[in-house]
Amino acid sequence: MIRVVLLISGGGSNMRALVGAMQGDHPCRAVLVASNDPMAAGLAWAAAQGIATVAVGHRDYGHDRAGFESSLLEQVLAVNPDIVCLAGFMRILSPEFVSHFAGKMLNIHPSLLPKYPGLHTHQRALDAGDAQAGCTVHEVTPELDAGPILGQARVAVLADDTADTLAARVLAQEHKLYPAVLRRFAQGQRSRLDWG
Ligand code: GRF
Repeated sequence: MIRVVLLISGGGSNMRALVGAMQGDHPCRAVLVASNDPMAAGLAWAAAQGIATVAVGHRDYGHDRAGFESSLLEQVLAVNPDIVCLAGFMRILSPEFVSHFAGKMLNIHPSLLPKYPGLHTHQRALDAGDAQAGCTVHEVTPELDAGPILGQARVAVLADDTADTLAARVLAQEHKLYPAVLRRFAQGQRSRLDWG
């Protein structure tokens, strides 16, 4: 059984999709859901599923980023993860933190990387007049939103799309793509999935 830790910041819809997929013949199981926000709704949901949860509130550390990361790292390492999935995790992790999980940390980003790393990805795609948008699952490396791409799902941008309507359509694809990529990654497959 491949042990997966999921890091969230809010509702954790991607975490919920991943947990829902890690059943039956899926080689992975969630062993911890951790959040940087004690109020993250995803924590209560995960606990109700019987999954261990922990919150390391980044606000408790003020500007002490190293202190926050050190506490989070301790919690994550304590459960001996094989894979760490960032799932709607909205804090930028230092190269030092990431280095503990080289080759075993994944993230989902709501754009067709390398386009639009960072925030406000859907509005940027609309402003650019892009015909397509989508999401990317990639390995996490020290450079933000830049690791090897493991999967992408594309959606058409519609004439009347707003950032919210586009985000909703992309999010539905995220919930399918991330579990499929995690299954392949856990089985040692590194060739990328491309959908749509
Ligand atoms: C999603 O767009 C995801 O791509 C980004 O954060 C958003 C919310 O994710 N990382 P979730 O609902 O918390 O999983």
